[in-house]
Amino acid sequence: MAQTPVKVTVTGAAGQIGYALLFRIASGQLLGADVPVKLSLLEIPQAVKAAEGTAMELDDCAFPLLSGIEITDDPNVAFNGANVALLVGAMPRKAGMERGDLLEANGGIFGPQGKAINDHAADDIRVLVVGNPANTNALIAQQHAPDVPAERFTAMTRLDHNRALSQLAAKLQVPVTEIKKMTIWGNHSATQYPDLFHAEVGGKIAAELVDEGWLRDTFIPTVAKRGAAIIEARGASSAASAANAAIDHVYDWVNGAEWTSAAIPSDGSYGVPEGLISSFPVASRNGKWEIIQGLEIDAFSRERIDASVRELEEERDAVRQLGLI
Ligand code: NAD
Ligand code: LMR
Repeated sequence: MAQTPVKVTVTGAAGQIGYALLFRIASGQLLGADVPVKLSLLEIPQAVKAAEGTAMELDDCAFPLLSGIEITDDPNVAFNGANVALLVGAMPRKAGMERGDLLEANGGIFGPQGKAINDHAADDIRVLVVGNPANTNALIAQQHAPDVPAERFTAMTRLDHNRALSQLAAKLQVPVTEIKKMTIWGNHSATQYPDLFHAEVGGKIAAELVDEGWLRDTFIPTVAKRGAAIIEARGASSAASAANAAIDHVYDWVNGAEWTSAAIPSDGSYGVPEGLISSFPVASRNGKWEIIQGLEIDAFSRERIDASVRELEEERDAVRQLGLI
């Protein structure tokens, strides 16, 4: 293997998303079928043994691209030299909770991890936060990593994006591949705004192919509340679909994409206050996310984007009050 392995750190490695994620990373789906990877699994001390069990299974797959596995409960070790960090480790919500209810329980995890990334990660580190509330946890981590370019901290709304594709494809009876320019705006929460006014199906604007009542009263809430529906049905929060979305996010970030959704630090575009980690329509070019510019936002969309951004501001203010940033 000529190429130096890419170090991928996964927190919460013994959890349910970790179990759905690690095998796909090791098989080459995160970065590419020719990119060797070295996995670093970060867990809390009580779960290190379970992570060791997962590592045994990874060994048993004899993945040609997997060059090594490290298991630790020390963030300074886990992030040392890391090129990609998937911050999954956090408590999932239970039925009846909103993701924001996890702020106090989970927020404290992300400051120390941000600092460890700041102090030890490789210069090209890319961070994807999956643990909820993902946008604000990403903000916390980023605020503790002043030496890392802010844009390297992102949060996952790709699962929402994929859910929106799938709901629309089912409604219009088209393959998901026919849908272009789907966008999730705002927070990975029930206030998120899945936007059909820029999405296209066979070259036509998606919003014009569905009736307004369906768009407003079925599509938007179905996508925005899908996480809760999964919890209700499975008795546990989404895992394989979340892992799949994490793979999609990082793969596109590294390998390029024309149009997808990701929560990235705002540069002030579309009236989203600078610095908030909010979901935008993005392209990935030369290993960087770029916000797609120049979209017209009508009053219907404006109201919904603003509501989700307001929630992000409230979450930011709440973690400030908690002393987490
Ligand atoms: P889980 O409870 O199965 O696993 C979480 C793991 O994290 C556990 O093994 C736990 O020991 C570990 N952990 C806790 N604190 C840690 C720390 N400080 N360092 C390292 N590891 C730590 O949960 P899950 O189902 O895998 O979900 C993980 C998180 O992802 C939850 O917050 C969930 O809400 C979130 N999630 C986000 C999305 C999204 O789209 N952004 C989708 C699904 C789930
Ligand atoms: C999801 O969207 O499935 C996750 O964020 C889990 C949750 O709490 O909804």
